[in-house]
Amino acid sequence: MQPFAIAPSILSANFARLGEEVDNVLAAGADIVHFDVMDNHYVPNLTIGPMVCTALRKHGVTSPIDVHLMVSPVDRIIGDFLEAGASYITFHPEATLHIDRSLQLIKDGGAKCGLVFNPATSLESLKYVMDKVDMILLMSVNPGFGGQAFIPGTLDKLREARALIEASGRDIRLEIDGGVSAKNIRAIAEAGADTFVAGSAIFNQPDYKTVIDAMRAELAL
Ligand code: DX5
Ligand code: ZN
Repeated sequence: MQPFAIAPSILSANFARLGEEVDNVLAAGADIVHFDVMDNHYVPNLTIGPMVCTALRKHGVTSPIDVHLMVSPVDRIIGDFLEAGASYITFHPEATLHIDRSLQLIKDGGAKCGLVFNPATSLESLKYVMDKVDMILLMSVNPGFGGQAFIPGTLDKLREARALIEASGRDIRLEIDGGVSAKNIRAIAEAGADTFVAGSAIFNQPDYKTVIDAMRAELAL
């Protein structure tokens, strides 16, 4: 199991002051920057692309950037994110015609790769690529927006994914995304997650460190 990591989703940050927001959340103790890419096609919302990732790197962000692609098609944007300094690139298996090829493109470019599963999407396609993925991301809301409620059935799915990871013997991160807060993070960790995306729970509070400390305190119990 990977050490616990807190990954604030900058979707809920103030985009008018993004560099400062990222600096502040990292100074508050975040481990990974979660970067949501939406295309108004695969999901009904439109956010940020590779240029913003490049800008964060130029701004001086050295922490891992975890690019969550909610776009279709997938392959033609991968190269730009590799160049932009993405550390992880994950995509939804149904958003690409060739899952193995898309994973390999990411790996060949030197980033870590992973698959993302919507709340009602089966983990079936993992079976054939467990030797390749560095991360499994389970959505605990339907993708497209921050601030939605955690779907409780995701806890069982986390247990299922954790069992697959243990059986593989590989060091694969198990990330959860959607509706995560200090209130439910402990139950989510107990179900097997090691990496916790949180957008509104962190950025909607005035003091990011208080929230991140509260999350870590729950994880240490
Ligand atoms: C939703 C995004 C999430 C989102 C989570 O499609 O993938 O990363 O920002 O936001 P919260 O934590 O507010 O549910
Ligand atoms: Zn996300």
